Amino acid sequence: MVRLGVNVDHIATIREARRGREPDPIAAAVLAELAGADGIVCHLREDRRHIKDRDLTLLRQVVKTHLNMEMAATEEMMKKAISVLPDMVTLVPERRQELTTEGGLDVTTNFDHLEEVTSTLRANNIVVSFFIDPDISQIKAVAKLGADYVELHTGNYANAQDLNQVVEELERIRSMAMAASKMGLGVSAGHGLNYQNVVDIAKIKQIEELNIGHSIISKAVLIGIEKAVRDMIALIR
Ligand code: PXP
Repeated sequence: MVRLGVNVDHIATIREARRGREPDPIAAAVLAELAGADGIVCHLREDRRHIKDRDLTLLRQVVKTHLNMEMAATEEMMKKAISVLPDMVTLVPERRQELTTEGGLDVTTNFDHLEEVTSTLRANNIVVSFFIDPDISQIKAVAKLGADYVELHTGNYANAQDLNQVVEELERIRSMAMAASKMGLGVSAGHGLNYQNVVDIAKIKQIEELNIGHSIISKAVLIGIEKAVRDMIALIR
């Protein structure tokens, strides 16, 4: 059965809109786990625009399932990962101007550095995953690095404009999931998956885990509004 990792970055984004204390991504993680999530995902960015160091530390203490920390392969983040010890690190590319992670990491450039990063994390018992485009040269490079998992970037599939493109991108993800699995890598996928497009991806049997943030938090906000408004009216009237 495919596992669900819930990304709680957006809860921290709403908190940072007021630079206050609520909503707390830790509370969201606890509720996500109570609802059956198999893991919690957060991305500690260099600019700390949403998840803060405090969040990562507390998530490590509170998450009972599986904590997956997304990060760039920098010295600062390596120190952080080794001090916090998440269950898994997913290495992602990071650009300051981007709204979200826009593409997979290019593993073929910077190979030696990434090899060192992989072996250091693995030596600390952290499972290592690379967020890459569904591309055979990237998958081969991840296998050569000695990493444990690839996370296939589903952004092109999610943004496909017409049915032909949807089918093409789906087939690409399916064949790359098979290739990665044959090379002995675990396979997960994510980015832009929502209540409309996730089912076909979830049917790919080599994909063990889906990491989803935006669509779940978006739905949570909307389905929670009615009760939130009723609660406020009950207080003031
Ligand atoms: N996986 C990775 C590596 C990501 O960077 C993100 C976005 O933070 C996701 C999954 C989740 O993407 P989305 O928020 O579009 O569901």
